Amino acid sequence: MEIIERISEIFSETFGEAPIHIARAPGRVNLLGEHVDYNDGFVLPAAIDRATYIAFSPSNSDQTTLLAVDLNQQASFSPQTIPSKTQIDSSPLPDWAHYPAGVMWALLEEKLSTPAMNSVYASDVPRGSGLSSSASVEMAFMIAWQTLDSWALPPMRLALLAQKAENQYVGVNCGIMDQFASACGVENHLLLLDCRSLEWKTIPLPEDVAIVIADTTVRRKLTSGEYNKRRAACEEAVRLLQQNLPNIKSLRDVSVEDFNWLAGKLPDEVSKRARHAVEEIERTNQAEALLEAGNIQHFGELMNECHISLRDLYEVSCPELDVMVRIAQSLEGCYGGRLTGAGFGGCIVNLVAHEKAEEFAQSLAKGYQSETGYHPEIYITRASKGAELLA
Ligand code: GLA
Repeated sequence: MEIIERISEIFSETFGEAPIHIARAPGRVNLLGEHVDYNDGFVLPAAIDRATYIAFSPSNSDQTTLLAVDLNQQASFSPQTIPSKTQIDSSPLPDWAHYPAGVMWALLEEKLSTPAMNSVYASDVPRGSGLSSSASVEMAFMIAWQTLDSWALPPMRLALLAQKAENQYVGVNCGIMDQFASACGVENHLLLLDCRSLEWKTIPLPEDVAIVIADTTVRRKLTSGEYNKRRAACEEAVRLLQQNLPNIKSLRDVSVEDFNWLAGKLPDEVSKRARHAVEEIERTNQAEALLEAGNIQHFGELMNECHISLRDLYEVSCPELDVMVRIAQSLEGCYGGRLTGAGFGGCIVNLVAHEKAEEFAQSLAKGYQSETGYHPEIYITRASKGAELLA
């Protein structure tokens, strides 16, 4: 595979010998349950066939060196420089290196060892696109350090540690969905995760349906600030609703009926954010039965409703995502389409009848380009295996 050859070659040129190991960790796409993982809700992602690949070997020195091929940049750090977010030469760690360094930080917090390594990595998960490129980088480094030392943790534990790295080292208050999907992906299956109990099951993807991902190629800045604000609004809603519903711990515990009764007591913006979460959790409650009954039509309608809610209540869409979703939903063979991931630009996800998928991709590309002037990237994806050591 091209990307593996490329990182192996660059590794040999940089470090003077071939890498001993190769690991891969996929990105993910989420079909339903958006912005509810941090509200203890249910999510329905799949790991995708795009991933971060890392070539690595133990190093003789005590410093870990990384080369990010896609950025053409290098960084090096050690357990001693981790707390100050600096490199071996005392310069600040570049932002992109906070993800791998955060993984080292989270492992050290756990009293696990993180042997020094030389590594080269590259990804075909587009950055900032809502397909969890960051989680895939984190999980690739988890696998690397796990490989170089004798500890072994279950995939869900690795995912929780990667989430901790992102929350506390990188500073994005994300939920567990992305790291979970990257760690636990199963080929040709959707993953249904209860973000409260962390129990999960797989749901086979019907054979006659394709997941089509389309990238608006639009990226918004300041996403993490807006993301953290959305999460804070949900927490604020819980605090206020507890005055009438003292037993609730998160929006997961609020029924649509109770919410309708109490919504008027909340400030407008908080009420909109919380309504999205409460209703989205209700939608995901229906998902399993619909998929098991093969009722893709109805499931697709829930995806469409989800987009409207993300656009109007959660306000994480943007004009280009809305245009793309409108065109997608109007095309033949499309069961449902919506923005996927955190929003603010990036990708949409569509469920499309298999035999129409190619035609759908072409018409969507043409329509979107003529309305916006942007060239979209469209891929018919396969649900893939989670993070793994390849060699
Ligand atoms: C980002 C976060 C996830 C999740 C989604 C929205 O991808 O990392 O934890 O909250 O946004 O569903």
